[in-house]
Amino acid sequence: MDKSFVYGVAVTDYNFTGREKETQRLKLNFENGLNTILISPRRWGKTSLVKHVCRQIAGGDVITVYLDIFGCKSEYEFYNALATAVLQQTASKAQLWMEEARDFLMRLTPKISFSPDPSSDFSVSLGITPETHTPEQVLGMVERIAMQKGRHVVVCIDEFQQIGEMDNSRSIQARLRSVWQHHHMTSYCLFGGKQHMMSGIFLNRSMPFYQFGDLMWLQKIPTSDWIGYITSHFEQAGRHISEEFATRICEVVDNYPSYVQHLASIILHRLQEGEAVTEELMEPSIAELISTNEMLYMQQVEPLSAYQMNLLRAIVSGVHSGYNEKRVRTTFDLGSPSNMVRLRDALIERDLIYSEMRQLYVTDPVFSLWFRRRFL
Ligand SMILES: Nc1ncnc2c1ncn2[C@@H]1O[C@H](COP(=O)(O)OP(=O)(O)OP(=O)(O)O)[C@@H](O)[C@H]1O
Ligand SMILES: [Mg+2]
Repeated sequence: MDKSFVYGVAVTDYNFTGREKETQRLKLNFENGLNTILISPRRWGKTSLVKHVCRQIAGGDVITVYLDIFGCKSEYEFYNALATAVLQQTASKAQLWMEEARDFLMRLTPKISFSPDPSSDFSVSLGITPETHTPEQVLGMVERIAMQKGRHVVVCIDEFQQIGEMDNSRSIQARLRSVWQHHHMTSYCLFGGKQHMMSGIFLNRSMPFYQFGDLMWLQKIPTSDWIGYITSHFEQAGRHISEEFATRICEVVDNYPSYVQHLASIILHRLQEGEAVTEELMEPSIAELISTNEMLYMQQVEPLSAYQMNLLRAIVSGVHSGYNEKRVRTTFDLGSPSNMVRLRDALIERDLIYSEMRQLYVTDPVFSLWFRRRFL
């Protein structure tokens, strides 16, 4: 049975709403071989969107390959993950992928030994190391596969910011870009959370991936796309919610996609069959949403200095700019202007806040609610 509301994992079909324009844009990029970079804060729906587009174009001229590199801690772990995903997902028949792998990798080196058990761990069994393959050989493989099949391939790499965390990250990035930019049959969709890290890779003029492709800043999902979704899912679960309360859910969590689904789920579960949402239900449900996430928020503030906490207090109180004014700095005890700059950068680096038009905002609306209740 379909779940009414889903949060925390990528969503599909019944649990997917909105994103028409973004889907269209990404689809066109995929079909036209344009590279795409997709950035947003955590849990806004990057993975869901990319997988949605991959499903939509499946069976057409373009082959999509999806991989998540969150677990890759080094350059060669990444190459193994990439080669495995490319070989598996471009193989014409699932059971033949090992044959094709042998074909493509053998041509590079005869040293590879395959595990006899095809269901064993591929990344281990491919065994790509600096001794067996150069980065160029591994990175060039997908283009060769695309040419051989005569079909365009789009490689979608999730949690791409992980590349930014590796030792020698800059030279790894330079290697990737220098190979990828010569690919004609392969394009890339690179995306990930940790906005700060992603911006560092793609928005910095002096970095290899600067202007690599179409840069998409994913937005939140607007209320108009949520109302029908929320009300119909309540109905299908035998409960009722008015459009007004559906709108309230969106407002409380500032349209942050995973929280909209989470709060809707909490409210739904407080209703008996046939019941409708009432005002009395809202406050305890919001309190439950906050307390469910409290441990996570505690971990986020634990390492902060007293000054950094003060800056958060200022922002949560509604002070978004004017930190150079002495009055503001004294009220919230922020120290000198140069100290203030350091505080701001430290919180941005942790993705706790973001800066827009020289104003500072808290990234996570429920964190903000929690912080207000606890520290103001
Ligand atoms: N199009 C959508 N329709 C409905 N809900 C969505 C949609 N996109 C995202 N969500 C909600 O947000 C949650 C997180 O989605 P997803 O994992 O795709 O985000 P993400 O940006 O990839 O997150 P992360 O940065 O953690 O990787 C989903 O579980 C769902 O609750
Ligand atoms: Mg994701």
